[in-house]
Amino acid sequence: MLLSKGLLAVLALSFGVGRAAKFPQEDLQGIYALAKRRVPLHADAFSFSLVDGEPDAFTIRDAYNGVHVQCTTVSACARGFHTYLTQYGGVDIWWTGSRLNQLPFKLPKVGQPIKGQAIVPYRYHFNTVTFDYTAAFWDFKQWELELDWLALRGVNLPLAWVGYEYILIETFREVGLSDAEISEFLSGPAFQAWNRFGNIQGSWGGELPMDWVNDQFALQKKLIKRMVELGMTPVLPSFTGFVPRALAKLYPNASIVTGSQWSGFPAQLTNDSFLEPSDPLFATLQKSFISKQQAAYGADVSHIYTLDQYNENDPFSGDPAYLRNVTAGTFASLRGADPDAVWLMQGWLFFSSADFWTDERIEAYLGGVPGNDSMIILDLYSEAQPQWNRTHSYYGKQWVWCELHDYGGNMGFEGNLRELTQDPLAALHSPGSSMKGVGLAMEGQEGNEIVYDILLDQAWSANPINVSSYVDSWVARRYPVKPLPHAALDAWRTLSSTVYNNQDPSTQATIKSIFELAPALTGLTNRTGHHPTAIPYDTDSSVVPALKALLEAKAQHPALASVPEFTYDVVDVARQLLSNRFVDLYTALIVAYNTSSSTAHSVQAAGQQLLDLLCDLDALLYTNEHFLLSAWIADAHKWSHGSKTYGAYLEYNARNQITLWGPDGEINDYASKAWAGLVGTYYKTRWETFVDYLVETKRTGKAYNATLVKSEMLAIGEKWDNGTWGTQKGERWGVHGDTWDMAFKVLRTWA
Ligand SMILES: *[C@@H]1O[C@H](CO)[C@@H](O)[C@H](O)[C@H]1NC(C)=O
Ligand SMILES: *[C@@H]1O[C@H](CO)[C@@H](O)[C@H](O)[C@H]1NC(C)=O
Ligand SMILES: *[C@@H]1O[C@H](CO)[C@@H](O)[C@H](O)[C@H]1NC(C)=O
Ligand SMILES: *[C@@H]1O[C@H](CO)[C@@H](O)[C@H](O)[C@H]1NC(C)=O
Ligand SMILES: *[C@@H]1O[C@H](CO)[C@@H](O)[C@H](O)[C@H]1NC(C)=O
Ligand SMILES: *[C@@H]1O[C@H](CO)[C@@H](O)[C@H](O)[C@H]1NC(C)=O
Ligand SMILES: *[C@@H]1O[C@H](CO)[C@@H](O)[C@H](O)[C@H]1NC(C)=O
Ligand SMILES: *[C@@H]1O[C@H](CO)[C@@H](O)[C@H](O)[C@H]1NC(C)=O
Ligand SMILES: *[C@@H]1O[C@H](CO)[C@@H](O)[C@H](O)[C@H]1NC(C)=O
Ligand SMILES: *[C@@H]1O[C@H](CO)[C@@H](O)[C@H](O)[C@H]1NC(C)=O
Repeated sequence: MLLSKGLLAVLALSFGVGRAAKFPQEDLQGIYALAKRRVPLHADAFSFSLVDGEPDAFTIRDAYNGVHVQCTTVSACARGFHTYLTQYGGVDIWWTGSRLNQLPFKLPKVGQPIKGQAIVPYRYHFNTVTFDYTAAFWDFKQWELELDWLALRGVNLPLAWVGYEYILIETFREVGLSDAEISEFLSGPAFQAWNRFGNIQGSWGGELPMDWVNDQFALQKKLIKRMVELGMTPVLPSFTGFVPRALAKLYPNASIVTGSQWSGFPAQLTNDSFLEPSDPLFATLQKSFISKQQAAYGADVSHIYTLDQYNENDPFSGDPAYLRNVTAGTFASLRGADPDAVWLMQGWLFFSSADFWTDERIEAYLGGVPGNDSMIILDLYSEAQPQWNRTHSYYGKQWVWCELHDYGGNMGFEGNLRELTQDPLAALHSPGSSMKGVGLAMEGQEGNEIVYDILLDQAWSANPINVSSYVDSWVARRYPVKPLPHAALDAWRTLSSTVYNNQDPSTQATIKSIFELAPALTGLTNRTGHHPTAIPYDTDSSVVPALKALLEAKAQHPALASVPEFTYDVVDVARQLLSNRFVDLYTALIVAYNTSSSTAHSVQAAGQQLLDLLCDLDALLYTNEHFLLSAWIADAHKWSHGSKTYGAYLEYNARNQITLWGPDGEINDYASKAWAGLVGTYYKTRWETFVDYLVETKRTGKAYNATLVKSEMLAIGEKWDNGTWGTQKGERWGVHGDTWDMAFKVLRTWA
């Protein structure tokens, strides 16, 4: 696929690091460092060179004593390197860790040189909220794995939100706000994304400490440097317009409006003040913010800015003239601060507030920004709810086909591999399309890795990837044992034709497990939409045979047991089996309860089944390091500088996000997880309480009181959120138990 001249111009502008003329070879130092880091024994065998040519193209060929990757961009070199490592070396890097160092001692020959090229200039990654749902407590080492994963897959446009508050605080100080006034505005470490979006303001559980702000800023400096070295253009924050309430007192003449209420939060914590972009103070703050940011990270690392004003916030007015004025003012402020500025925004609002965002309003809003290359819109949920096709391809503005797929870091299986290979190409080739990228915008990175891999690979393939051969080669490099038992392929062929072949448009997102929801008599099962609990496949002909096949593969080739991705998958598939069985047991419990002739004893017996299942699930999850609540909590504590109080604050943030999500369960269980410890100490406690209540009302004949149940569940959450991990019986750190014992037990007991 050839890129048009116009597109090349766009690239030269957006990646305006003066790269068009010549390529100093030191530009490739980041790729050489990546090779040293990930394939230390073979690092000397790989060489790279940058040449002129169409953007994002590479050629891999044999070289004297090794392999040479020639590329036209740094990102293409990383992608070419990955192509060799995966297709010839048979190894890969995963969210669960890098196995690239298991490259065969004698490097396989390439033979006929192979070429590759991206089909779109932008390969994008992250959702603003991924920085909280997944990366809130990551240290540099965890980030390093992530950035290598991204670079090798050819991503060149990652969001870079870390440390935003440092620059923002400096900017607010400069216009005269006091630290106390600024502090009232900022949200806690696990909730910063929604403060950045202007959904919430302020904190619960304590103020945001300056230690956090400073540490994140220090981390961001390293991340930006690394992103640039790896050929990526970080999408940097900017001033959005959301300001501390006190700014209105300080500048009584400034146009500051009160934003809308978000997700049932009390007014104190939401209804953010918004400085109108038409006000001159907006431009002043923008200039201040961007110049400080440039001073901190370098003036030329990026000219692309992430800026969202109406993500789940309603504009102050729906008048098209107003909306046009908002974007015109915002964009003028960006260009005033950086003459090459390009505005990137999440297009989620056009789906989530579709009633507000009529065609006329969208056209006015986008129309406020002159030119088509000055904006990049993330069509955030393209796989299920594309908006580009109702907005005339965003009226000609650049946009990115994004897979969202995961909400709140929920862990249920779901996907449609075939669609991910076909729909982006159809969108790219549709008449008048201004699509310029492909990317991932998941709220959380939690499992289902194949549905993300395949889309990033599709960004480098002009034809739809053949799903069945893709799955086979993906499994072969995920489990690099020789010979790979056929049963391992069978497991994934089964999954790919069932759970990853979801054709049901009403359940296109990670399927939420109902055991993670607050127990209730009704409303848990069969939910559809983007928080589905309806299971769109038959467990007995998908998850059950997949688990059997994986265990059979391990019996055939015991070395599989030491492949971390294999043990991860066994736990994950067994987890899904238990999740799905829970729905049947729950339904049986409610039927037993509802049957007038049933006894308290039969309700107790039905309830016990659920609790037994949760015990097994907890024990299963405890066998793998990637399914531990204690890891999430320990990551939070890492930032505490050894202070007990600060540690407790961080732990409260970590706990509250995955449970109540808000001081009073405002979006309760949104970011629920199937994690060892969380299942055993939280979900199980709630279900025990519920079962006891059902038994009790059955025995006494008292009416079921839904309000009472709801408030008891909330009370359990508030108590749990205040806990200190490791101080109560059964609260364990680290891995316990044996995966194989538990997986067999799951099959025996629950299949
Ligand atoms: C606000 O506007 C009024 C009327 O134009 C003016 O008298 C006053 O000085 C202004 N106040 C500030 C703080 O700029
Ligand atoms: C918060 O916003 C809502 C609209 O979403 C509005 O009804 C309410 O009055 C606002 N509250 C305050 C205190 O501004
Ligand atoms: C927006 O509207 C204000 C008046 O409400 C006006 O002063 C300003 O020039 C407008 N901005 C743009 C960029 O059109
Ligand atoms: C856009 O595409 C989606 C998915 O194919 C479809 O459901 C929707 O109806 C289309 N919208 C319009 C306006 O064509
Ligand atoms: C932007 O794209 C639209 C739709 O293709 C086109 O009508 C318009 O002329 C373009 N604008 C510019 C400034 O190129
Ligand atoms: C996909 O590849 C398989 C072999 O792995 C082949 O049998 C099948 O025909 C291919 N499908 C398409 C649509 O090309
Ligand atoms: C879900 O809905 C389907 C059909 O609407 C029904 O047959 C099924 O029993 C429901 N399942 C549960 C668990 O409620
Ligand atoms: C059980 O009873 C409740 C309340 O009477 C009702 O809403 C619910 O649909 C019933 N559920 C089942 C599975 O029978
Ligand atoms: C249900 O429980 C709530 C909360 O405890 C209580 O206020 C309410 O009176 C109860 N309703 C009935 C009908 O008993
Ligand atoms: C949790 O801790 C907070 C702050 O220390 C306290 O106000 C609250 O009452 C506690 N809640 C529970 C249920 O323990």
